[in-house]
Amino acid sequence: MSESSLTRCSKSIGFDERISKALSDRATKGLSRSLIASQGGNTTELIRNGQKLVNFSSNDYLGLANDSELIEAWQRGLSLYGCGSAASPIVTGFSSAHANLESALCEWLGFERAVLFSSGFSANQALLFTLLEESDVVYQDKLNHASLIEAGILSPATMRRFKHNDDSHLSSLLNLYEHNCGSSLVMTEGVFSMDGDMAPLNALNKVIGDRAWLAVDDAHGIGVLGKEGQGSCAAQDLKPNVLVVTFGKAFGLSGAAILCDASTGDYLTQFARHHVYSTAMPPSQAYALTKALEMIKTQQWRRDKLAELKSVYSENLSRFEQVIKTETPINPIIIGEAEQATKAALALNKAGFGVTAIRSPTVPSNQSRLRVTLTAAHSVDQVKSLSSCLEVTLQGLN
Ligand SMILES: Cc1ncc(COP(=O)(O)O)c(C=O)c1O
Repeated sequence: MSESSLTRCSKSIGFDERISKALSDRATKGLSRSLIASQGGNTTELIRNGQKLVNFSSNDYLGLANDSELIEAWQRGLSLYGCGSAASPIVTGFSSAHANLESALCEWLGFERAVLFSSGFSANQALLFTLLEESDVVYQDKLNHASLIEAGILSPATMRRFKHNDDSHLSSLLNLYEHNCGSSLVMTEGVFSMDGDMAPLNALNKVIGDRAWLAVDDAHGIGVLGKEGQGSCAAQDLKPNVLVVTFGKAFGLSGAAILCDASTGDYLTQFARHHVYSTAMPPSQAYALTKALEMIKTQQWRRDKLAELKSVYSENLSRFEQVIKTETPINPIIIGEAEQATKAALALNKAGFGVTAIRSPTVPSNQSRLRVTLTAAHSVDQVKSLSSCLEVTLQGLN
């Protein structure tokens, strides 16, 4: 390469300017995110910046992330299987621990196949990228998770977003593409991560009829809702064509699975690039996940405890219009402007509560909010104290 071409290249890149502009734009809007390392494990009490906080921001709904039975299971898994899986599942990364987890998931949720992924983000992307072709249409709830919306946009299919939980709007969009020659997929979350409300799965299914496949991402419903924690679909007595479950929330670990029929499972195993070209999750983790599944199924007390904490939380707060009523452990409090939401979160932090302000682009810019999550590991006293502190904080904002 000549010296002049090297000079030209270094001038035209401009990454430095791009990066500093993006960072300063975000900071000016009060939307910067910060990484704060917590000391110790994921318990209900976190130490951050030397301060003790009762953690109301995690998705560890059933309190499994720091449960001694589960920790022991992972340790046993390490003794049995060693550390890493060392290869893609289709090379040598797939072990009996993975196979057992897949079978347990299928039996619990009533599907022929389960295909494992290292994260919910990759499972969602794999599903849409593998299924969709140019002639297809994918219909997504407007509030679907970033992993789904991004995959829909990047896929070769046409993507249409329907109004949140609005079966009539979905129906009119389906009518619009009635003569489309490709296949159609309707994608929704079971429980919406930032709003905590549930998708009306039966109403959606009714308007879909046999016009499309229904796929449900139940990241926030699995383990929490339905008999034995089988999730949003079981709670509404519906079996979708495809179900995505993630393990970073109620399972207390990480990873994900796509549940489907046998031929879709074979198809994903062959063609889903996030499966084929990625190292399988550690076998010890798959082993621990099988234990987590058993705990979810058999330990109903965790869901009962969540219900008890929910009624304690709602008792004094339901009179505030910003406090949104939900049937799940996710409790949004809509504040509006990002600055106000950050101020409210800081006031709560000062009082010893780890509550996070959720701002744009995660939610619309005029709907910045506090997102309070309850877990079965919280105590009634912790929730009572939070709720009293929230009362004072919300009165201060009104
Ligand atoms: C609805 C939903 N789907 C998928 C994901 C991604 O899952 P994971 O964290 O396992 O990548 C998340 C969030 O984390 C989510 O809220």
